[in-house]
Amino acid sequence: MAAADAPLLRALRGDRPERTPVWFMRQAGRSLPEYRELRVGTRMLDACLTPDLAAEITLQPVRRHGVDAGIFFSDIVIPLRLAGIEVEIQPGRGPVFADPVRSAADVARVTAIDPERVAEAAGPVREAVRLVTAELGDTPLIGFAGAPFTLAAYLVEGGPSKEHLRARAMMHADPRAWHRLAEWLAAVSAAFLRAQIEGGASAVQLFDSWAGSLSTADYRAFAAPHSRAALEDVTVPRIHFGVGTGPFLDAMRLDGVADAVGADWRMPLNEAAALLGRDVTVQGNLDPALLTAPADVLFAAVDDVLARGRAARAHIFNLGHGVPPETDPDVLSRIVARVHGEAV
Ligand code: CP3
Repeated sequence: MAAADAPLLRALRGDRPERTPVWFMRQAGRSLPEYRELRVGTRMLDACLTPDLAAEITLQPVRRHGVDAGIFFSDIVIPLRLAGIEVEIQPGRGPVFADPVRSAADVARVTAIDPERVAEAAGPVREAVRLVTAELGDTPLIGFAGAPFTLAAYLVEGGPSKEHLRARAMMHADPRAWHRLAEWLAAVSAAFLRAQIEGGASAVQLFDSWAGSLSTADYRAFAAPHSRAALEDVTVPRIHFGVGTGPFLDAMRLDGVADAVGADWRMPLNEAAALLGRDVTVQGNLDPALLTAPADVLFAAVDDVLARGRAARAHIFNLGHGVPPETDPDVLSRIVARVHGEAV
């Protein structure tokens, strides 16, 4: 188990450790040559379900960058695969489903699957997390899941889309079918989180990457209650992250269920903190576009994020979204050193 006084866990409780904790969304993956080498010949979702491979990929960025947490190497669609739904990740594209869930009959077909099936099939997830946490020692491992809306954005569309129009349309055309599907997705994500916590994860993050395509009213009515349900019974600290959620950032607190809320790069962290209040930690939010800027520009931006983060009760440094695959990993290591107050 991670030591309770690890900087990440202290920040999640609202403390300000001497050293601001830092990790990066998508820190594991294609930006690392050691990842690209290890992944040769293995499909993405198969890699996620091969315990020693998933464990090693999770550990790579922790060793290399000295970040304050690992994020479990998996994918938001893994619990759907464990539920028996046919899904693949197409390189350069994203998750693709053989049978999109578009009608009330499709919703009935999918939601007939018992979410407990995910818990039963999650042996490789528990095992991978156990291997990781044994290696990590006092460094926490963050488990994660996709929020119901973001999962539905893929499942209803059948694959990646720009505006997630079909999922947004279902909410209004057939609200009963929508809520049934979203409730089921919440149960499936909750089962995936539970497996990671059983394996030893000491915090979790719920990713609602595409929530920003919703209006404030629709987010509150059709998405937030289900995200809350996914996190409600979680027994470790909870981070809630979305992209483009500035207009309804306050709702991302999920009525106090979230211990930390992540902001993307669009909203300065001091403004996010003002909207969120003193009961919640903020996470973020260096613009990933800055990763290719000259060092002086980049470090000025890192310092600016740190200064603005002081407006919140506590701050976890991160990017405003995931590490782009073409990122020079040395830049990430230098950001970690800068956040930790070391010379760069
Ligand atoms: O360090 C980490 O964050 C690793 C764990 C992780 C992955 N996916 C690995 C992955 C996490 C937390 C995710 C979550 C995920 N998956 C999200 C939410 C986070 C976000 O970025 O908003 C989403 C929307 C997905 C769906 C998904 N999976 C997409 C859009 C893609 C990219 C497709 C591509 O090739 O560009 C994936 C595949 C994926 N998931 C990769 C990785 C490392 C790339 C696969 C590869 O290496 O070929």
